[in-house]
Order: sequence, then structure tokens, then C-alpha cells
Amino acid sequence: MIAPSLLSADFLHLGSEIEWINRSQADWLHFDIMDGVFVPNISFGFPVLKQISKICKKPIDVHMMIVEPQKFIAEVKALGTYMMNVQYEACMTHLHRVISQIHEAGMNAGVTLNPSTPICVLEDVIQDLDMVLLMGVNPGFGGQKFIPHTLEKTFALREMIQQRNSHALIEIDGGVNLDNAKILYEAGADILVAGNAIFGAENPEEACARFCAI
Ligand code: DX5
Ligand code: ZN
Repeated sequence: MIAPSLLSADFLHLGSEIEWINRSQADWLHFDIMDGVFVPNISFGFPVLKQISKICKKPIDVHMMIVEPQKFIAEVKALGTYMMNVQYEACMTHLHRVISQIHEAGMNAGVTLNPSTPICVLEDVIQDLDMVLLMGVNPGFGGQKFIPHTLEKTFALREMIQQRNSHALIEIDGGVNLDNAKILYEAGADILVAGNAIFGAENPEEACARFCAI
């Protein structure tokens, strides 16, 4: 599966960006919410995403790169979100509670790991998770170079998911392109997020189709 990341879209023409995404082969649409505290950048917030979610026909995948993401569960839910991802590093103390709160709100729950966070920290919650998002770059910006170690993490996570009988999907975000997509799928990824590789292409809709053809 493929999820274009809105962060790399043309913000002057968001309406037409969503229109092509709706008619494309994209599986989900990925929203990156940043706070300038957890990550050194600020993206867009709920007033913008509310308008986009009204016209978006694809399942919405929200990636919270903020501290205390549990404070905004109701706002994320109000977007019609399918999958809410929180960063492990931002809410590790009561991670199980946060996952439960996302489920109680009626959404699927995902936990994101930064490149420096090992997958073993999820051993005791993997059965409660609908998805694990592995960052292929340090979060905060689009267009960065893929960190190769993410591939080994993907293999190891696939093994952990199987061993623990978890239904969690594996999503990879950051530095994904048409050159590394195949090897990531082969390593066990279920869904790839792509910003620059799609929106930076001459024809984003066609780039999206090329990911699906892999
Ligand atoms: C980065 C974001 C990503 C970003 C990926 O912190 O979480 O979703 O949009 O962009 P690319 O695909 O350009 O690395
Ligand atoms: Zn993201």
C-alpha cells in the first residue's frame, strides 16, 4: 500500500492536490502534525486538515509529531481519521493508556519509532497495536535521505509481529522512493509513506501508480 504525505503537497493548490489523490491508486493520505517542540518544525494544524478531510475520500493516516498527543485525540477523531499514530518517544510513560484511549475513540492505533528507538520497546504492547510506523529519517522534514538501518528494523519487526501473533501493520515513513520501495516491501512493510518521491515528481499521480505497480 502507498500513502502520499501531504507535507510535500502544493499548499497553494490543496484542493486540486486532494482531487488527484482521490482518483489515484493511493491507499491512504498521510497527515504530519508537528509542534515545533517534539520536532524542530511546524507543519499544519486542525483548521487546515478539517477542510481537507471534508473532500478527501481516502482513509486518513495521522502522524502526530507532538508532545502529549493524547490531548488531541478528539480533534484527530473529528477529522474522520482511520489511523492515529503517536510517537513512542512523546508518550512512552503511559503508552498503553494512550493506545486504549485511541481505541476508545473508535480509531486504529499506531505507534511511531524514531530511527534511534529500538523495536524491543514495543514488545509488551505489540498485540494491542494496529500499526507500527518506523521512521526512515529523523522526523520533522520531508525530502531527507533514507537511513539504511531501517531495513534491518523492518525485518526484525516483522519477526516480532509474527512471534507475538500481532495483527499490526508495518508502515515506513521518510526517505522512501521508487528505488527502495521494493526492498522495503520484501522486508515486511505493508504501507509506505512517500512525500518528495510523489509530489516532487513531474506527474505525482503517475508516480503514485508506479509505487502500486511494484
Ligand atoms: C517526516 C514526515 C514524513 C515526510 C516524509 O518527518 O513524517 O511523513 O512527509 O517525506 P519524504 O517522503 O519526502 O521523506
Ligand atoms: Zn509522517
